[in-house]
Amino acid sequence: MIQCKGKIAVLTSGGDAPGMNAAIRAVVRTGIAKGYEVFGVKRGYNGLLNRDMKLMTFRDVSEKLQHGGTFLFTARSAEFGEDDGKRKAAKICEEMGIDTLVVIGGDGSFTGAKDLSKYGVNIIGIPGTIDLDIAYTEYTIGFDTAVNTAMEAIDRLRETSNSHERCSVVEVMGRSAGYIALWCGIANGAEQIILPEEFNNDYDALIQVIKSNRESGMTHQIIINAEGIGHSYGLAKRIEEATGMETRATILGHLQRGGSPTARDRVYASVMGSYAVDVIDQGKKNRLIGYKDGHVYDIDVEEAFAMKKNIDDYQYEVAKILGTRCDYKNV
Ligand code: F6P
Repeated sequence: MIQCKGKIAVLTSGGDAPGMNAAIRAVVRTGIAKGYEVFGVKRGYNGLLNRDMKLMTFRDVSEKLQHGGTFLFTARSAEFGEDDGKRKAAKICEEMGIDTLVVIGGDGSFTGAKDLSKYGVNIIGIPGTIDLDIAYTEYTIGFDTAVNTAMEAIDRLRETSNSHERCSVVEVMGRSAGYIALWCGIANGAEQIILPEEFNNDYDALIQVIKSNRESGMTHQIIINAEGIGHSYGLAKRIEEATGMETRATILGHLQRGGSPTARDRVYASVMGSYAVDVIDQGKKNRLIGYKDGHVYDIDVEEAFAMKKNIDDYQYEVAKILGTRCDYKNV
């Protein structure tokens, strides 16, 4: 009889992201293949606090890969946010013999995991967030699907804006990060993008550009506004009043979080999920899985948290130049 190497619990936490299911599947199947028992924890840290978990089989993760969301459900847990909650979670892990907790989530979930590690629980993090706002990794599960969803929606908005000769303010997600806005800015050829990392609150300058674009013959304009800046309805009103150009605001919202994951999200999530088990198998403790320079890698949780992420300056410049329409300005 094969001896069980240990118990792994896996949970998804924070905002869901397309590809999370692929990551869970990879942790479960690789874990089982390498001799571990793998428990699926329901509803993030809440499920851990309620011992709401189930021993997973290969079959339990069948037909999950292609679906968005997370079949383990997700939550943001107030109780776990408190020290007592983390102490309780650590005690439950000990009592249930869970050697490692794999957390699939964003930076808030990783902060919780880092704090839990102080109570003696070995944690492994897999980055799952559409926001792409985690410093140590160039890739987070869900970003690719979300940005493609937003891009398609903005293509549609451009068509109707063009027909009506309107200005469109489109708000895309990213709690305090502008990556979806930046990527859509380039992918949709937006006339202007407003990113929390870059915007200096100069709305007059923004409106002036809309005016001169209009005066030089541009029939419609797309302004992509990141959620971190927000207030898109107010901005649309202000633009309309200042420019006389009919302006509509559209907030894409949570629809960006759903949908069948792209091939990129499925593959990266699968590779990261398997890699997480390899890291456990190597006896490593408190690591975050990431993607850098074309490879999946792991990094110490404290080291990862010391890093800061900035918007890629070059991409930002490209977005601005390509949206400028200098030919209009020069006529
Ligand atoms: O972190 C992912 C994200 O979708 C952010 O872009 C957004 O600000 C937030 O989650 C929304 O959270 P909720 O689902 O709780 O409204």
